[in-house]
This record gives sequence, structure tokens and C-alpha cells, in this order.
Amino acid sequence: MSSSTQLARDIDGKAIAAQVLEEVREHVAALSLEHIVPALAVVLVGDDPASQVYVRNKLLRAKEAGIRSLEYRLPATTQQTDVLKLIAELNADPLVNAILVQLPLPAHIDEGAVIDAIDPLKDVDGFHRQNVGALVQGADVLKPCTPSGCMRLLHETCANLSGLHAVVIGRSNIVGKPMAALLLQAHCSVSVVHSRSVDAKALCRLADIVVVAVGRPHMIDASWLKPGAVVIDVGINRIETESGTRLVGDVDYASARTVASAITPVPGGVGPMTIAYLLMNTVIATRAQQARPTPQHSHETTEQLALSE
Ligand code: GUN
Repeated sequence: MSSSTQLARDIDGKAIAAQVLEEVREHVAALSLEHIVPALAVVLVGDDPASQVYVRNKLLRAKEAGIRSLEYRLPATTQQTDVLKLIAELNADPLVNAILVQLPLPAHIDEGAVIDAIDPLKDVDGFHRQNVGALVQGADVLKPCTPSGCMRLLHETCANLSGLHAVVIGRSNIVGKPMAALLLQAHCSVSVVHSRSVDAKALCRLADIVVVAVGRPHMIDASWLKPGAVVIDVGINRIETESGTRLVGDVDYASARTVASAITPVPGGVGPMTIAYLLMNTVIATRAQQARPTPQHSHETTEQLALSE
């Protein structure tokens, strides 16, 4: 590499997430004029260490944004019926606007059954099959938080996404599939590559935009990228180093930035956006519930109950 190699610019997820959180605070302030305090219920089953960290951060950021948070920690041995019972109670509670069940759940619990038990209007992860279906059809619904955050980063980075070729690496329900749907909605040509793709690298080298969500540290280096590509790295992997551990993405940042035009660092790229969009979804869900016609969720009922707290 010559010393004059132009390095990609960083896409500053921390700064853009701070803007999103400011927008959330504005929504919270507007709701408070109507005596409504948005409330987010977070359900954590078991003691997965990474999930505990994620949940702690979500609750902390919610509080900072003026969102009431309710935490439900259940032991790993909890039966599925008890999780479903809790979801039913949260669905029925007009003072709870948003429900998030942290994944993964212990193996004896059917994740799909739990997610589909959540009221779609309170499904701030956007994982309920009704919301997933509506997303694919391009309807305005609650959208998964990490892909929403990635789209915001792309809109802040690229003047116009229309017509660009985007390659999504990874096909998970949480990131890869909804990401592809959102890119398509933004008029990109979209390819999804995965572990069975024939010559994934050759496909990726055609991409103007590369979104990587595979959970494998440093899998994507400069040799996967077209010069000038915009790279969004969703991976957060903890790796051992001589001096302890550190977080790295699915992209080899040092290598990729010699070829890309813009890239998200890890940490400080996509990570802060996920929580920002969870809180944005919470205020969107709260608003949508005010418009819901059923009596127990009508505006007056919520307002009266909020005032009587
Ligand atoms: N586990 C990893 N990512 C997520 C997420 O976005 N939402 C939930 N509920 N669980 C997760």
C-alpha cells in the first residue's frame, strides 16, 4: 500500500444515533403535553451474558430519553406458558406501549410462538409475522431496529440510494432479510449472499453498498470490495487479544478502509443505532396506539390512567 492511499471516511454511528435520540426526546416531549409517558417492557429469559449487557443498555438509554421502562427477568427454566402469560398481561396493559423479548430464548422455548404472541402494535422489534409481512409489502409498520439504523446511516452517507447495487451478507430474520426488504424499498438492486452462495466474493465485488451481518470476525477484507463501496458492518464480535479482549466487526476494518469510500467502525457504527431505533419505535408505537379504536386503548383511557399513576 502506498502512503498516499486514500482511506474511507468513518460513518459516525454515535453522532447519528445522538441525532435520532434527540428526535425521540422531541416526540417524548410532545407526548408529555398530552400526559402520555411511553413505556417499554423488556423481557429477558435466562442469563446469557451478552443479552444482559444489551438489555442493561436498552433500559439505560430508555430512561435517558424519558421513556418509562419495565424490566422482567425470568429464570432460564421458565416454561413457555409462563412467558406467554406475561406477554398476554403486557398486551392487555394500556400503560405498556412497547414489548421487547430479548433473543435468543432458552432452547426449550419456541421463539416464533413467543414473538407472534406480542400485540403487533407493541412489537417494537418488528419481528411479529404480521409486521414482517407488511414490511415486505412496503407498508408503514414497526420495522426491525438494526436494519432501520443501517438505513439511516446509508441515507446520511449516500445522496441517493436509488438504483445502487446493494449486497447483504447474511440472511438472518433479525438483520439480513429485513435489511434486504428495506434496501429494495429504497429502490436499490439487492442481492443476499449467504453460506451456500456460489462465489459470494465475486457477487460482493459488484456492490456499491455492502451490509455484513454474519457474526464472523474479520470475514470481509478489501479483496471483497469494489473500490468506493460503502460498507456497513453489523457484526459485534468479542475476540481474544494479547492484552485481553476487544470488540471487532465482521469486516476487517483496517483492510477494508483502503478500498471503501465510507465504512462503519466497530464499536461506534451500527451498535448505537439499534438502541436509538428501538426507542424511536417505542414512540411510534405509542402514537399508533393513541389512534387505536378499541376502548381499553383509547386516548382517554391511557391519559386517565397515566394521570392516576
Ligand atoms: N438479540 C440480538 N439482537 C436482538 C434484537 O434486535 N432484538 C431482540 N429482541 N433480541 C436480539
